[in-house]
Amino acid sequence: MSIAAIISSPRAGGNSDTLAMAAAEGARENGGSVKVFHLNRMKNVKGCQACMVCKTAGRCVLKDDLTEVLDTIRDGEGAIISTPLYFGEACGQFRLLQDRFFSFIGEGFKPNIAGGKKLATIVTCGSGKDSGAALADKLEGVMAHLLGFSPVGKMVFSGGDSPSAAAGDRDAVAAAKSLGEKF
Ligand SMILES: Cc1cc2nc3c(=O)[nH]c(=O)nc-3n(C[C@H](O)[C@H](O)[C@H](O)COP(=O)(O)O)c2cc1C
Repeated sequence: MSIAAIISSPRAGGNSDTLAMAAAEGARENGGSVKVFHLNRMKNVKGCQACMVCKTAGRCVLKDDLTEVLDTIRDGEGAIISTPLYFGEACGQFRLLQDRFFSFIGEGFKPNIAGGKKLATIVTCGSGKDSGAALADKLEGVMAHLLGFSPVGKMVFSGGDSPSAAAGDRDAVAAAKSLGEKF
C-alpha cells in the first residue's frame, strides 16, 4: 500500500516541494512506501467534467495523467498533499486534482473509498500566514469530512517569494519530516 505525495507547485525544488519531500522521507523512514506525483510535470490533465458517472461506476472514468494519482490514493494508505498559496487558494494544478476527488464520493454523498486513510497537509505562502492556515484548514476539512481521511497533521510555511526559503530553514524541514513519520 502506497502513500501518495502530491507536489503541486510549478517550482521544482521550491518550498512546498522541499517540505513535501521531507515528509515523504519521514514516511519512508517509518516503513511507508511513497509514490511522488509532480502535478506540474503532467502533460495530459483534465478537470472534473461533472459527468456524474463516478456516482455509479465508483471511480473517475476520465483517463489521463491524474488517473494514477487517484488510483494510488484509492488503493493506498494515505496522502501527503502540498500546494503553494495563490491568491488565497490552492494553486491551479492542485485544484484540478481536487475536483477529481469528487470521484471518491459515491451515491448518497458517502465516500466510496476506504475510510481512515492518513493525510498530511502542507501549504506554503509568501507573507499571508493566516490565509495559508485558513487554506490548510479548508483542504484538510474537505478531505476529512467529505472523503473520510484521518489527518495526522498540517504545516504552514511562510517564506516570502524565495523558492529556497524552506530548504534553508532546518526547523521547517525537520517539522515536515516529523509530519511524515506519523504515517
Ligand atoms: C500566482 C501567485 C500567487 C500568490 N499568491 C499569494 C497569496 O495570496 N498569499 C501569499 O502569502 N503568497 C502568495 N504567493 C507566494 C507563494 O505562495 C509563495 O512564494 C510560496 O512559498 C510558493 O511556494 P513554492 O515555493 O512551493 O512554489 C503567490 C505566488 C504566486 C506565483
